[in-house]
Amino acid sequence: MTSQIIKVDPFDYVIFGGGGDLAERKLLPALYYRDRDGQIQDDSRIIGVSRTERSDQDYRDFTLQALRRHIPAADLNQDIVHRFLARLNYQSVDATGDSGWEALKDLLDEAEPGTVRAFYLAVGPELFAPIGQKLATLGLKHDRSRLVIEKPIGRDRKSARDLNEMIAQHFDETEVFRIDHYLGKETVQNLMALRFANMLYEPIWNAQFIDHVQITVGESVGLENRAGYYDSSGALRDMVQNHLLQLLTLVALEPPSTFSADSIRDEKLKVLRALVPIQNGTVAQRTVRGQYGSGAVDGKSVRAYAEDLGSGASDTETFVALKAEINTWRWAGVPFYLRTGKRMARRASEISITFRKVPYSMFGEDAGEIFQNQLVVRLQPGEGIKQYLMIKRPGPGGMKLRRVALDMTFAETFNTRHPDAYERLLMDVIRGDQSLFMRRDEVEAAWDWVDPILKAWADHEQKALPYPSGTWGPTAAIALIERDGRTWHEPD
Ligand code: BG6
Repeated sequence: MTSQIIKVDPFDYVIFGGGGDLAERKLLPALYYRDRDGQIQDDSRIIGVSRTERSDQDYRDFTLQALRRHIPAADLNQDIVHRFLARLNYQSVDATGDSGWEALKDLLDEAEPGTVRAFYLAVGPELFAPIGQKLATLGLKHDRSRLVIEKPIGRDRKSARDLNEMIAQHFDETEVFRIDHYLGKETVQNLMALRFANMLYEPIWNAQFIDHVQITVGESVGLENRAGYYDSSGALRDMVQNHLLQLLTLVALEPPSTFSADSIRDEKLKVLRALVPIQNGTVAQRTVRGQYGSGAVDGKSVRAYAEDLGSGASDTETFVALKAEINTWRWAGVPFYLRTGKRMARRASEISITFRKVPYSMFGEDAGEIFQNQLVVRLQPGEGIKQYLMIKRPGPGGMKLRRVALDMTFAETFNTRHPDAYERLLMDVIRGDQSLFMRRDEVEAAWDWVDPILKAWADHEQKALPYPSGTWGPTAAIALIERDGRTWHEPD
């Protein structure tokens, strides 16, 4: 089954940080795939920008290497690669100085009127405001312009607000696309389809029928090459404030009245604002911080965080588990257990929704235990949805109950390549569709909830507990959920 491709309007994608890691690993490969699949019109261009002097040809060489490194050879069609490389231009610009801006403007002005201009800032957040200001004051921004930024959007509520404020001086909120790439993942979008395109779940999607929700984002990678950023950030800021809270809002939101960006984001915002604060009195009971030690992941020995860091001891958390609660009629009393960590037993991310126990069993003890129904939405790898049900074990041996999964693994169902989240998001930017991007007030509301946790950790000197690489975090994380008589669902 192939999906229908609708071409987007002609565009100039201007990638600041065009020679950087994100462009190389994600943006250029994603744009190639969209070109290959016929979504990009002939006169669209991609303009790499950074401070380094390079020719167009140098940038094409760089991009070709990136495609070869990050795309399977079978997907690289020579003619399409050729066409794609021909779209590339390069302009050296000093983001905080004067050089290069005029030339960039001239290049952009060569485009047909009406061409969408997307400025993707794949650079450090300290450059967001200066670049935004230049784009506006030097006349590079026009009425079909978009500004795309990535996290970190601040490191607390105040810095996020300051940054948003500076951007708002030059760009209207409808022109700002704050990427949370988790929202571009297929299964994440499928959550909305599951909830609002089926009659089955919504009537039971509440505290009366749902016992609790778990969101696990497990990574097998460690620090990678990001010591500077990561060590001053930690898992709460890096993953929970954005990706995990975004997933939580999609599980918990009330049905939006339309599938429009603001209807959806209004409902997400209400969820964020209804999160029960975790503060000094509750932080020790409700949160666990961890840091990976040495161990083995995927059969390979790996070093401890401190060694990966190479600069001595650090208390930065590479793992967080916490118990969140939402104060609304729908969710009161339903815990949302979140956990995420690096160097976990494996790379596995999922949302699992456990329904309440049956109120009474008419089957005798011989029938076996009746397990609670569970819906597992698997984000990666092996995207799909599983609904666990109790059935009668086949055979004449009397009434014996068994737990089975109705398994809908998308790769088998649709027999299609799973696009990377960036492919969808980069095209949504051109379409001007902000549904899968974070609005300013959402980002700030998420910080409103995260800030007191950070403060309480600091006030209580709550340390990052060591855990061996290749496990699901410190034992305290198991205790956190077991105190409530529940257990973590082990992703397969
Ligand atoms: C990023 C974080 O936002 O998401 C990284 O900064 C993390 O630390 C990454 O590794 C995980 O994304 P994915 O798509 O690989 O699950």
